Amino acid sequence: MFNIFKRKKEEPKKNSYYASLKVREVVKETSDTVTIFFEQPEPFLEYKPGQFLTLILEINGKEERRSYSLCTSPYVDPYPGVTVKRIKGGVVSNYLNDHIHPGKTVNILKPMGNFTTDFHSKNKNHFVMITGGSGITPIMGITKSVLINEPNSKITLLYCSRSEHEIIFDKQLDQLAAAHPDRLEVLMNITKPGPDWTGLKGRIDAAKIKETLAKSASAETTTTKYFICGPEGLMDIAKETLHGMNVPQEDIIKESFYTAASENAGDPDAQGSDRPFLTREVTVILQGQEYSYAVSPDKTILEAGLDENLDMPYSCQSGLCTACMGRLLSGEVKMDEDAGLSDNEKKEGFILCCVSRPMSADIKIKIE
Ligand SMILES: Cc1cc2nc3c(=O)[nH]c(=O)nc-3n(C[C@H](O)[C@H](O)[C@H](O)COP(=O)(O)OP(=O)(O)OC[C@H]3O[C@@H](n4cnc5c(N)ncnc54)[C@H](O)[C@@H]3O)c2cc1C
Ligand code: FES
Repeated sequence: MFNIFKRKKEEPKKNSYYASLKVREVVKETSDTVTIFFEQPEPFLEYKPGQFLTLILEINGKEERRSYSLCTSPYVDPYPGVTVKRIKGGVVSNYLNDHIHPGKTVNILKPMGNFTTDFHSKNKNHFVMITGGSGITPIMGITKSVLINEPNSKITLLYCSRSEHEIIFDKQLDQLAAAHPDRLEVLMNITKPGPDWTGLKGRIDAAKIKETLAKSASAETTTTKYFICGPEGLMDIAKETLHGMNVPQEDIIKESFYTAASENAGDPDAQGSDRPFLTREVTVILQGQEYSYAVSPDKTILEAGLDENLDMPYSCQSGLCTACMGRLLSGEVKMDEDAGLSDNEKKEGFILCCVSRPMSADIKIKIE
């Protein structure tokens, strides 16, 4: 029998949202994408360009949480905004495209994420952005922030869309490129273009990425940073190409919105033979308080904690967003997916509770 110190089951779950934001404006970007701008809360929302918000919504009587990257820059835009592309059959993206309206309030977790950088007016960076579809969202916030904060840095943006009508931020990007002709180069690639399209076309492959990089190489900048965010296939090609060109791992900053592997992250039957087969006791330190509870082999540490009514932070529940990150103080866990963690975070002992399963006794995790 485990010694469990936790809130009583019947005690209502505390909803530890960070802020409640009021929708200010909803802008239709394309037929299947909207940008939702929020009023500034009091105090103002602090975030880094490229970070994401976790929206907590009640849809059909059920709480849903999803991560959405901020498309705005805290240095440029008065109101924070997220851009949401409709996913076929998706619960939240369709709700937001069809039903969100000015005046509605949405609870959020604090802005999170490592898909960002620090800015300095003396930097002479070359930012190479490779993106597609809704992956442009965080890139937009970073691009605006570079242009205003780093007068000596330049940006090459390779942006892939399926058709001309699906280019998100089409006009905004044109305007930014026209305003900064020497510092921002936008290369639009359309997979299935109409007859009038004169830009890049077809699938993005290694040759196209290499050609773009060769053309955009700049003698005036000192450091090149690569930001990759987009559909899985595009990200895989971009990562492979950059690794093949011996670009150091630490210069490649990437964000995945979705991976097919994450679909199986919570499914023990899809995890192979090294999954745990014992129920283990786990201790979690949450807001300074220790809670111990049992985790059965078919549950992750987050799922079992939520079953115990613990107020653990989470969003994507598939190992991508890091909302559920904690530091493993003792014991051993197996993570089904760890795409959200940087190499440094892994070295420092951070784990993602939503995809972690206990593999030993004495597991203690501190959630900060
Ligand atoms: C860190 C982070 C940042 C994100 N930022 C953005 C953003 O700025 N804009 C944005 O539109 N989305 C973003 N996403 C994705 C977003 O969180 C949701 O996953 C997406 O909107 C789908 O949610 P849903 O409820 O509509 O679909 P769900 O109901 O969760 O899923 C329905 C089905 O669609 C498939 N699916 C789910 N997500 C995707 C996907 N992204 N691509 C392809 N198939 C999918 C799955 O097969 C799933 O079974 C981000 C995700 C992460 C982790
Ligand atoms: S909740 Fe997103 S990584 Fe765990």
